[in-house]
Parts: sequence; C-alpha cells; structure tokens
Amino acid sequence: MEKLVIEGGRKLTGRVQISGAKNSAIALIPAALLGSSRVILDHLPAIKDVEIYGEILQELGAVVSLHGETMEIEPANILNYPMTNGKIKQLRASYYLMGALLGRFGQVTICMPGGCNLGPRPIDQHLKGFTALGAVISREKELLHITASEGGLRGAKIYLDVVSVGATINIMLAATRAKGTTIIENAAKEPEIIDVATLLNAMGADIKGAGTDVIRIKGKKQLQGCRHSIIPDRIEAGTYMIAAAATRGDVLIDNVIPRHLESLTAKLREMNVLVEEQDDSLRVIGTDHYKAVDIKTLPYPGFPTDLQQPITALLTQAQGTSVVKDNIYQSRFKQIEHLVHMGARMKVEGRSAIIEGVTPLNGYEVMATDLRAGAALVIAGLIAKGKTVITDVHHIDRGYEKLDEKLQSLGASLWRENDSAWKEERRIK
Ligand code: EPU
Repeated sequence: MEKLVIEGGRKLTGRVQISGAKNSAIALIPAALLGSSRVILDHLPAIKDVEIYGEILQELGAVVSLHGETMEIEPANILNYPMTNGKIKQLRASYYLMGALLGRFGQVTICMPGGCNLGPRPIDQHLKGFTALGAVISREKELLHITASEGGLRGAKIYLDVVSVGATINIMLAATRAKGTTIIENAAKEPEIIDVATLLNAMGADIKGAGTDVIRIKGKKQLQGCRHSIIPDRIEAGTYMIAAAATRGDVLIDNVIPRHLESLTAKLREMNVLVEEQDDSLRVIGTDHYKAVDIKTLPYPGFPTDLQQPITALLTQAQGTSVVKDNIYQSRFKQIEHLVHMGARMKVEGRSAIIEGVTPLNGYEVMATDLRAGAALVIAGLIAKGKTVITDVHHIDRGYEKLDEKLQSLGASLWRENDSAWKEERRIK
C-alpha cells in the first residue's frame, strides 16, 4: 500500500491549473448512455473515479476510449446487464446508472452504491423520483430492480424533501426520456447540475431551469451524441486556495469560475487571507495573522460540505475559537482525530467541530479515511513541522488529479513510498 510523505514547512508559491470537475465528470459519463451515438467529453480529470466509470461503461458494451483529458463514449450497442459487481460498490456515483439506464431501457438492476463513509447516505429521494415517473422498485438485499410500468416512464411533478445533488441529477437523467414533462421542485442548484443539463441539452434534451430550484424537463424519444467540455473543479480549486492560505503562500489558481467559490472566498477574507478574483483565476495570498471564523455547510451557493474538512486544517492556524457545523452529513469529521494527533486542539460536538487556534502542527502517521479527510491531512502536512505520513492515499487519488505533481510545482516537498520502503526507513533509524 502506498503512503504519501510530506515534509512540511514550505510556502506554496506559483501557479496551478485546476482540472475538470470530478462531481460533473461522474454524472456526464453515465449521461452519455442516454444517447444513440458518440459523446465526446473534454477536460475530464485524470482521477480514479473517472477510470472506474469508463470501465463500467465498457462492461455494459459501450466503446470507450480515453486520450488524455478526452473520453469518447459510443453507447449505441450497450446491453442492459444486471450490475452486481465490485466496481459499482467502489463508486458513490454509480447510482447515476439507475437514471441513465432506466431512461434508456425502462429497466435497471443494480446493487447499492459505495463511496466515502460520511454517515448515512440514503437514496430515498432518487427512488421517490423514479416511482413518481412510474417505475416500480423492488429490493432483494443489496440489489435494486427498477422497472418502468407498461407504456414507459411518464413525466411527473416531484418535490424533493431533501435538497440532493444526486437525486436531482438522477431524476433529470431518467426524465429526459420519459413521456411528457417532469418538474423537479426544491432541486439542488450546484454548478455540476447545470453542467449535466448542458450536456443533455446538447444531446437533444429539453431541460430548463438547471441551477435554480425548479427544473423542467420535456421528455424526448431519442437523444444523440455531442461534444462537451466539462466545468472546472470548484472543490479542487478550493482545496488549493486553502492550502495556499495555510502555508501563508502566494498562489495563482487558474481555470476556475470564481463565482463558484464565492462562499469560500468570503470566509477566507473574513479570516484575513487576501483573495484576488480575476476572470478565470483566483490569487490567494497568505498573511501573518488569521482570525477564527464560524462556518455552516449548506447546499450551493452555501459553503460546500466538500471543503469543510480541508478548512478545519487551516483553522488550526487562526487565532481564537472556530465552530464548523456540517449541515449536510452527520459524521464527516473523521479528519479531526488525525489532526489532533498532529497537535491540533479540536473536538467534535454533535454536527460541529470546535477548533482552538493557533496551534503548531507536527508530522505524524495519519490515515486518509475518506477523500476530503485526506485533503485536510495533506494541508495539515504542508504546514506541520517534520514528516507527515498519510496512509490510505487511494481515497485522495479518487478525486485529485496529479496532486503530488501540482503541489511539487508550487514548492511543496512530498513523495510516495510503499509500505516496505517506509518500514525499512524506520528500521534503519
Ligand atoms: N439525502 C437523503 N436522501 C437522498 C439523497 C440525499 O437524505 O435520497 C441526503 C444525504 O444523506 C445528505 C444530503 O441529502 O445528507 C445531501 O446529499 P446529496 O444527495 O446532495 O449528496 P450526493 O449527491 O450523494 C454529492 C457529491 C458529494 C457532495 C454532495 C453534496 C457526488 C458523487 N457526490 O453527493 O461529493 O458532498 O453531493 O454537495 O457528486 C465529494 O466529492 O467528496 C463528495 C462526497
């Protein structure tokens, strides 16, 4: 097993290019299955989740080729196999195959999705949407059978009880091929939803209102292929913004849509970090003194839960007490105990993390329990004194393209070691 080793204490300086958005990519890839001809997706991030999704589509019979950042998907001859294998379990976003295959074939059999353990992650709102479209759902242990009733899916009005990115996209996918109009109320408004709607409209769908809380979808008999360029990853960009601030560096973050990061920019400025916005870049300049802030995560355009874990590492360097409440997930604070091992003074109370600063951090062997916890530990490692060793890096590789290379180009000192090299080094010492 690989470990990431970080020699902390270096300021990040320079310029970093942000990749395509992970949470768009993993919805756009299955969306391509709704068409009858080739879809080309540009600027995909080179991350594990994209690779696995490409393999799942191949298993269904799609012809998939990945050249650098471009994936070509020829979905004409796919078959509707029951999907019970391990790859579905490796991804949270495998649930988008439900909407895509239900839309295309009127039937899907699939096991429950996997993904990071952030507490309970039900999919009741996805299933409520499919049922409203006329599907019948039965469950045998981990396996779901979702079947459109005779005559196929039909448009419906669906009010989401919880603002859910996944349910909004999944219902949108199925509804593009339903008869009549579907209206999703209390829809999520994340930029990734607009990106998926943009792709589907280019494939011939008729979706209006994506990015607002009411989305209207007029179903179409057929969709075709198209070429689509994915939006930049606001969470990757936010992670570099926080890392730049934490190391008191000066980093120009390129290929971003600054509006997507307004909630983070506002919080960083409140802490006394300098953030300059340009058309498609953000420059983050650290200062000597940061103030504690309170943060509540909310659906977009509120503060993203995906940046909650990374920012807890930065808040160890802010003077005073910060309270970070996660309103989206019940237990997304697995980074805390590891940050405490590194010297942070923080604790979890219910859905909040309480962080006392300023505390110097020291290198330690810690574990990336999930993707964004891993990002938090990388940031902590960058500012810690000495060597931080992060295990279970595969979680980080699911979501951050070329993390080591990008950080090295900004002046960080980090490298990978496998278990045996690490044990050997310890033995020699
Ligand atoms: N929820 C329900 N029922 C549902 C669906 C969601 O109760 O049917 C609840 C969830 O338990 C959660 C809240 O609603 O408390 C929001 O969940 P949402 O459905 O919006 O999350 P998701 O679609 O499963 C996506 C991203 C997550 C990101 C969230 C919130 C993907 C594959 N995942 O998850 O990304 O945290 O939206 O923005 O797009 C990550 O990138 O690290 C990550 C976890």
